[in-house]
Amino acid sequence: MGKGVFIVFEGIEGAGKTTQAKNLYEYLNSIGKKSILTREPGGTKTGKKIREILLSDTDEMFPPKAELFLYEADRNFHIHNVIKPNLEKGINVICDRYIYSTLAYQGYARGLDINLIKTLNDIATDGVFPDVVFLIDIPVEVSLQRLGNKKDRIEKESIDFHKRLRKGFLKIAEENKELFYIIDGTKKEEEIFEEIIYIVKTKILKD
Ligand code: TMP
Repeated sequence: MGKGVFIVFEGIEGAGKTTQAKNLYEYLNSIGKKSILTREPGGTKTGKKIREILLSDTDEMFPPKAELFLYEADRNFHIHNVIKPNLEKGINVICDRYIYSTLAYQGYARGLDINLIKTLNDIATDGVFPDVVFLIDIPVEVSLQRLGNKKDRIEKESIDFHKRLRKGFLKIAEENKELFYIIDGTKKEEEIFEEIIYIVKTKILKD
């Protein structure tokens, strides 16, 4: 059996990537391409506990490096329990966020060293990289508007944080042109989905 295809969705808060990842997951299974839908953080039993720690409010200072290590620990659980075993069985993996979120959030937005993050990403993933990344891009103003008032620990960050985040994602996409497709997330949900399906069918799943 051949190796499954690994598809990642990235974007700032409220970009619509979770909806598009789910749409793609349902579509691929409906045409007989066996696929799973998963996410980071929280794609495993232990990962769900790590996600809870990462996104809940706390009255303790949350050190940026501890935050980074927790995302990478979640990722290592995910790689060994979900991503690798499924790809090896020939099942496609659709993942809502991956290593590029760590570069954008903990690196470009939070300010941790980019090379340190790249090294930890390599260790945590065991060298498993996606076949394609869809960056659903929206302006920060749209992101904050879509978020409304109910925000988790990270969503509560400043406007400047969210601006650095968007810039960071666009820079990462620019540096990895062969892997990334930037999709305009302000378009209608159906239009975005058509675009994604077209790319997946013509460039990713060739058979
Ligand atoms: P979600 O809202 O897409 O489920 O993601 C959870 C939050 O975690 C979101 O605010 C982005 C953030 N995040 C990071 O800061 N670093 C990471 O490496 C990942 C995967 C997510």
